[in-house]
Amino acid sequence: MKKLLCVLMMATLLIGCVSPALSENLDDPDGEWGEYMDPNEAEGSVSVMDEHYGEGYAAPAEEAGQEDAAEEAGQDESAETEPAEEEAAPVAEESALQPAASAGAPEVKWTYGVSLTSLKSPWLLLVNKDNKLGEDYEPQVPMKMNKLKRTSSTTWYLEEEAGKALALMFEAASTVTSYDYVYTHSDGTQEIKTVEYEKGMTLYLESAYRSYGTQATSYYNRLERNNGVDDGYVAMPGASEHQTGLCADILDYTYRDKAMNEGFANTPEAQWMLENAASFGFVLRYPKDKEDITGIKYEPWHYRYVGKEVAQYMTLNNLCLEEFTVEYQQAMEDFAQRGGNEEEQLAYELIRLNAPPESNILEECDETGDPDVSLIF
Ligand code: DAL
Ligand code: ZN
Repeated sequence: MKKLLCVLMMATLLIGCVSPALSENLDDPDGEWGEYMDPNEAEGSVSVMDEHYGEGYAAPAEEAGQEDAAEEAGQDESAETEPAEEEAAPVAEESALQPAASAGAPEVKWTYGVSLTSLKSPWLLLVNKDNKLGEDYEPQVPMKMNKLKRTSSTTWYLEEEAGKALALMFEAASTVTSYDYVYTHSDGTQEIKTVEYEKGMTLYLESAYRSYGTQATSYYNRLERNNGVDDGYVAMPGASEHQTGLCADILDYTYRDKAMNEGFANTPEAQWMLENAASFGFVLRYPKDKEDITGIKYEPWHYRYVGKEVAQYMTLNNLCLEEFTVEYQQAMEDFAQRGGNEEEQLAYELIRLNAPPESNILEECDETGDPDVSLIF
């Protein structure tokens, strides 16, 4: 019993320590989704949603968590018991700013493996030959990418959110000093090689946002070089997601001044990106095994920003953007048919996003075989 009391006190203290750090992140929902779950470390196929909300996330423990979340979000309980008129105004103002703080668990559960919040983000824009962009489309907040190493002196832009994520990925690569990768020989045999980098791995930006006009030039130039045949590498103007500013072509030192081809997949840089891109919110947009769905040839250099939660889900479930789009739109339709309320769900998710992580108290046995209690956060 003493141990249990001690543990509960520790839990209270720890939550107290964790909360301020979390509240500093309230403006950064992406940061709150947690770190990338390496597929190799994942036990089974735990969805990011389950990790974050707990399975089914309607359990009583979670309802209790909501109270914590409401406190975390700054709800002033005492204001309810002190209905003095002059104090009423600020309280009303606060709840207008934070409608989510009073929302309970929705009756109709959202059961899909990605939060509705992430699905409503602007980063899932699907562009292909069936979903073309208008000639005037431009990134909402263009970010100049000149601080990154590039294959040429061209100034590239990305949508700011994607640009910041790409800069983080380049920075992370630069901390890699040794990397094991699989080298495939021309006869198909493979060997594991280790590469050492004295100054860290360097990624090179080859291309990012392209206007409709630039894409048209690239497309028709390629057609001309190819005797009028579309070989599936350059998308038609309007059908290129380069026009969104949400994707980038990224190369290594050896490919920085030569034509891009599948051989790039044999480089440690390509393999490091494949392994790590999702933790920065990127997915390989045109995988080899999805050519018939994307309509584009395998491009081991082309990465698309979709946000961390979605990138992790797509990667774990081996879905390309076309497949993912069909899947999540179906989930939204099912939710609506079951009577689900999107606004209510989004408000609920906002609370869960801002809530401190739940603690799990596990009973274990010590060396003497006596039940012991330990805390795992
Ligand atoms: N290379 C990709 C498919 C594009 O042109 O958008
Ligand atoms: Zn590309």
